[in-house]
Amino acid sequence: MSETGPRLRAESTRPRVLCVVGTRPEAIKMAPVVERLRAAPDLFDVRVMVTAQHRALLDQALRIFDIRPDVDLNIMTERQTLSSITQRVLAGMESYFVHNPTDLVLAQGDTTTVMAASMACFYAGVPFGHVEAGLRTGDYQAPYPEEYNRRVVSLASDYHFAPTEQAGQNLLREGVPESRVFVTGNPVVDALLDVLRRTEPPPKPIPADAPYVLLTCHRRESFGEPIREIFGAVRTFAESRPDLYVWYPVHPNPNVREPADEILGKVRNVFLSEPLDYVAFAHAMHGALLILSDSGGVQEEAPSLGKPVLVLRDVTERPEAVTAGTCRLVGADRGRILSNLAALLDDAAEYRAMSERSNPFGDGDAAERIVAILAEHFPTIDTPRPRAPRLPVLPSAPLWGPRRHRSSSLTRTQDLSATGQIHSPPITRAGKGIPVQRKKKRTFPRRPHRSG
Ligand code: UD1
Ligand code: UDP
Repeated sequence: MSETGPRLRAESTRPRVLCVVGTRPEAIKMAPVVERLRAAPDLFDVRVMVTAQHRALLDQALRIFDIRPDVDLNIMTERQTLSSITQRVLAGMESYFVHNPTDLVLAQGDTTTVMAASMACFYAGVPFGHVEAGLRTGDYQAPYPEEYNRRVVSLASDYHFAPTEQAGQNLLREGVPESRVFVTGNPVVDALLDVLRRTEPPPKPIPADAPYVLLTCHRRESFGEPIREIFGAVRTFAESRPDLYVWYPVHPNPNVREPADEILGKVRNVFLSEPLDYVAFAHAMHGALLILSDSGGVQEEAPSLGKPVLVLRDVTERPEAVTAGTCRLVGADRGRILSNLAALLDDAAEYRAMSERSNPFGDGDAAERIVAILAEHFPTIDTPRPRAPRLPVLPSAPLWGPRRHRSSSLTRTQDLSATGQIHSPPITRAGKGIPVQRKKKRTFPRRPHRSG
């Protein structure tokens, strides 16, 4: 312990943990984990890399949680393809690992960012921890490409943080060793409760006391006819219920925005807004009569608020919410959407049955459990591959580039733009970062799968 740098262990003895985040839901769900990791500076050297698969939506979410990324790959392009996202994340992370020895990467969910991040770790021999592990629909086309992504991520993961017992069981069935599966809850519940606890509802853009249905819709497998069918149902519903509003914060994807404007743009009581920041959206969910959504996160949040969700999908990887009664699958079928809306709004008993306030996805302590598990186990779990990164050969044109994106919340961000041309010095670290003794912490986690 030095006089000036008092309580921290030497930097080189703390595991270097890189949290990788690409899209809005990842930022929201990883925020509590980042916060908990950063609250233990004597145990972890934490960095946040954003791929910026989403740019505006991601920055909006990061601002709410006051997360300033250390590294920004800045990959988003208009109408990006799955291959281009994958390729840019792989290139950016490979480049990062060359100069920044990393002991563990953590990422959440099933986006292409997370899939590619897990692959980059597998190639570089960097251990990977998967938050929200084990969700499955069994159908590679729904959701597309997320079901494929999450299976790839599981193949590359050393730590699987399953939100529920059922998700943990899915992993065991696929042959993941019990010793690597931890049931922790989903940190989205932590984020939601935290935001509702510390913020007031902002003013609404629709009349203050007007009852409203909240809508979100963005899934790739719905593009084209299914999304037009959904919006057609919403228009019919709104026109038949002039006493209500439908409030739809529209995802910026042009494949969503264009049909939304065309089909819903001129309906008097449908209010199309820009995407809401998480504070505004959390309160908007809280104030809604009910929610129509194809979002994964919303299915996990609504049970904490006692809000019924009609899920605009045919299958869900979150069956717990359906079993609990809060969510009901209605697909992209106009008739089912309309009949379920009518049943909920006109039948008080039916509405009550779907507004149970118990959340199968967590209790608000998931991040604490995840960090406690890492503190207790890292790096004692024996990974099946070498611990030393298999460093890639440096590309002839350096991938380190200037920071192209600037926003007030990202002032300290180092840009690793995969297309950047100019060489700028990488972050360098001394030492090898071998974690040593760790404080014995609480008796977390609830780990029914661990054999001992
Ligand atoms: C992505 C994820 C999806 C997740 C969703 C959360 C994949 C394949 N899909 O879908 O799993 O549920 O994020 O919202 O990983 N755009 C902007 N600004 C933004 C964000 C997006 O303009 O801030 C536009 C761009 O034109 C971009 C397009 O939306 O090319 C699509 O973004 P992308 O991340 O590829 O797909 P999402 O539908 O957002
Ligand atoms: N959300 C938000 N603003 C919005 C719409 C959604 O903050 O305008 C939040 C929502 O509460 C949830 C997350 O974003 O936590 C879900 O994101 P999305 O539906 O884009 O992705 P998915 O969960 O389907 O992957």
